[in-house]
Amino acid sequence: MILKSYRYTNEVILEHLSEQIIQSDTLEALEKLRIDIFGKKGVLATEFAKLKDIPAMEKKAFAEGLNRHKETLQNSFDAKFDMLQNEAIEQRLKSDFIDVSLYSSLAKKGALHPVMETMDKIIEYFVAMNFSIESGPMVEDDFHNFEALNLPKHHPARDMQDTFYFRDGHLLRTHTSPVQIRRMLETKPPIRMIAPGSVFRRDYDLTHTPMFHQVEGLVVEEKGKVSFANLKSILNDFLKSMFGDVEIRFRPSFFPFTEPSAEVDISCIFCKGKGCRVCSHTGWLEVLGCGIVDPNVFKAVGYKEVSGYAFGLGVERFAMLMHQIPDLRSLFEGDIRLLEQFR
Ligand code: PHE
Repeated sequence: MILKSYRYTNEVILEHLSEQIIQSDTLEALEKLRIDIFGKKGVLATEFAKLKDIPAMEKKAFAEGLNRHKETLQNSFDAKFDMLQNEAIEQRLKSDFIDVSLYSSLAKKGALHPVMETMDKIIEYFVAMNFSIESGPMVEDDFHNFEALNLPKHHPARDMQDTFYFRDGHLLRTHTSPVQIRRMLETKPPIRMIAPGSVFRRDYDLTHTPMFHQVEGLVVEEKGKVSFANLKSILNDFLKSMFGDVEIRFRPSFFPFTEPSAEVDISCIFCKGKGCRVCSHTGWLEVLGCGIVDPNVFKAVGYKEVSGYAFGLGVERFAMLMHQIPDLRSLFEGDIRLLEQFR
């Protein structure tokens, strides 16, 4: 009976389709086969349609045979479909792979802000000279910023530093010198420190911004162990290491917290001392203030039988001179075109 029913079924075609499924190597080819085999007008539908014309006695065997084929075809189709789909996913994962370690020409390299770069250079020098790095608060009180630095209330020298005051009497430190006071109050001599940090003054023009950076230096030793000669020697060496082969001069000056005091000039790095616009035709550029610590400062912190020297410098001024930046304000405008030049 089964054999007989075969004459109605297109065995060869069905087996050939099975072979085609196994051999198809793309999802598109497989989809075409699916329509040809399982579709509304597909081979199976055509075969099943024959049922109505087959004699009743042979119907069962014919249907069974056809169903077996259908099952076989379905199974090999499903298996092939899974396989091809997995392959496609693998392929996609491979081709979509993003190598995050690859160099991108779009990414721009950052740079240290010239002020920070200069600050680092200054710090590097003094660390090598065995100075410790100290810090203090930016919001200070009158005692640390003025009083203990030999600047009593109503002293005219307070006008040198236009101060930002809070209503409660606190203030934004006008220099890094209060860090000297804090350090001396919390520790015994000897001291060999620098204090880098931001300071604030009510000032805004070509060479002043309301916030800028200073590096303070303080050395305190047993009485008689440090002199102006030591101060001169280290600042000479420091300035040469920053600006190269320049001439250096110490010019008598005044600071309430040092006596004697000096301002230090270097020969103009732009005109080599001949006189130009930057040095106001003097041939010299002022770069820092310094002096021998005033006895009144030691008195304020309770230090006895000591001597010491101190110095203070403006980091922006150093950066401007080292990089020939004409307007100090441009350092704080955050303009990428300025910063790009320091990459
Ligand atoms: N504090 C001084 C200023 O801000 C600089 C200075 C520091 C001078 C230490 C002498 C000694 O101008």
